[in-house]
Amino acid sequence: MKLTHNTIFITGGTSGIGRALAEALHQRGNKVIIAGRRQALLEQITAANPGMEGVTLDVGDAADIAKVTADVVRRFPDLNVLINNAGIMQIDDASGAIDEQLMIDTITTNVYGPIRVTSGLIEHLKTRPDAVVMNVSSVLAFVPLAFTAVYSATKAAMHSWSMSQRYMLRNTSVRVLEIAPPWVQTDLLNSNDEPRAMPLAEFIEETMAALATDADEILVERARPLRAAPGADEAAFVHGFNDSFAAG
Ligand SMILES: NC(=O)c1ccc[n+]([C@@H]2O[C@H](COP(=O)([O-])OP(=O)(O)OC[C@H]3O[C@@H](n4cnc5c(N)ncnc54)[C@H](OP(=O)(O)O)[C@@H]3O)[C@@H](O)[C@H]2O)c1
Repeated sequence: MKLTHNTIFITGGTSGIGRALAEALHQRGNKVIIAGRRQALLEQITAANPGMEGVTLDVGDAADIAKVTADVVRRFPDLNVLINNAGIMQIDDASGAIDEQLMIDTITTNVYGPIRVTSGLIEHLKTRPDAVVMNVSSVLAFVPLAFTAVYSATKAAMHSWSMSQRYMLRNTSVRVLEIAPPWVQTDLLNSNDEPRAMPLAEFIEETMAALATDADEILVERARPLRAAPGADEAAFVHGFNDSFAAG
C-alpha cells in the first residue's frame, strides 16, 4: 500500500503495536486518528504527535461503534484506511469449563469489534480511492497457543474473515490486508520484558517495510515459520509448538 497521504483510523492506538504503528504512520505524513478507551492516553499521545487525533471508543460496545464510526466519517471525509488493531488476550484452560466473562469479552473485543467497526466504515471506504482495511490477527491464527485457546480461536476467525472480505471486495477500491504478528513486546500478557518476544521497534520497522509492498499478508520474518506450519502435519506441529512454549 502507499504509505503517505492517507487518512487512517486505528483502533487500539493507546498502547503497544497500535500506538507504535500510529506513530510510524504519522511520521510518514499520514493523518492518523487513534481510538481507545483510555482518554488520558489518547490526550498524551496526540499531544506528543501534533496533528494526530484521538477518539474515545469501546470496541466492545456496538452502539458506541455505530456512533463513533459515523462521527469519524463526518469529521474526516478523506478517511481511506481502517486498521482493526484493538484486542485482548487472556490465559484460559480449554481442558475445563471456560470462564463465561473471559469468553464473552475476548470474542466481543477481538471478533465482533473489528467486524462492527468495518461495518460502520465500509460504505465510506468504498467511495475512496486506494482504500485499505487492515486486520491485525496473529501467528496464533495459524498455530493455536493452547494456553490461550479462546484468544487463538478469535484470531483464526479474523484470518478467515479477512479472506472472505478480500474476496467480496475484489472489484472495489478497497484492499484487505492482514497483519499476523509473532509474539511482540507489549502490555499484552505483560510481555514488555519477555525475552522470547520481538522488540516492538524491530517489529514496527519490519512491518512498515512489508506494508510498502503489494503483500496482502503482512508477516515479519519471525512470523513466517508459524504461518507456514499448517498442512498434513498440523497436529504434530501444534503439539510441538505448545510443548516448547510450556518448557519456557
Ligand atoms: N503483542 C503480541 O505479541 C501480539 C501478537 C499477535 C497479535 N497481536 C495483536 O495485536 C493487537 C494489539 O495488541 P498489543 O500487543 O499492542 O496489546 P496492548 O498493548 O495491550 O494494546 C491493546 C490495545 O487494544 C485496545 N483495546 C482493548 N480492548 C479495547 C476495547 N474494548 N475498546 C477499544 N480498544 C480496546 C487498548 O486500548 P484501551 O485499553 O485504551 O481501550 C490498547 O490500545 C491485538 O489485536 C493483539 O491481539 C499482538
